[in-house]
Amino acid sequence: MSTKVLMVCLGNICRSPLAHGILESKIEPEMQVKVDSAGTAAWHSGKQPDERSIAIAKQNGIDISNQKARQFTVEDFNAFDYIYVMDQSNYKDVMKLAPNDATRAKVEIILNEIYPEENREVPDPYYGGTSGFTTVYNLLDQACDKIIHKLKNAK
Ligand code: 4NP
Repeated sequence: MSTKVLMVCLGNICRSPLAHGILESKIEPEMQVKVDSAGTAAWHSGKQPDERSIAIAKQNGIDISNQKARQFTVEDFNAFDYIYVMDQSNYKDVMKLAPNDATRAKVEIILNEIYPEENREVPDPYYGGTSGFTTVYNLLDQACDKIIHKLKNAK
């Protein structure tokens, strides 16, 4: 049985597609980990990631251009083992939909993997320049290293 990880942000075009691509790039085949991403909002459903996310991923050897945005749904609580959100607002939106304690326990703010219990946020880069995407990439890269370590040790 594979372990399933879902990355969640607001639009599913900037941060969570990067988290999705970065984590996927670090998985070794024997780990049997599947990754997906979603947005709490439906505004960009069906769209490719933001071109600035595609560009920063490409600079780091990762192709995320085939991803398509979709909205987070309540079914995701059953389909995934770990649900990582980017900020407090995503956390609130996802937790509002969680049916019980078991599903609530699957939800974690992603930077808590690097800074435990500090509830730091991956800043929303949408309205800023390209440097915001570099910051986001570097934070998510570190967080995904921790997630890989955790998944390896969980087996
Ligand atoms: P994301 O960024 O949540 O990292 O995908 C955003 C994308 C779009 C919008 C806001 C944030 N928007 O307002 O359309």
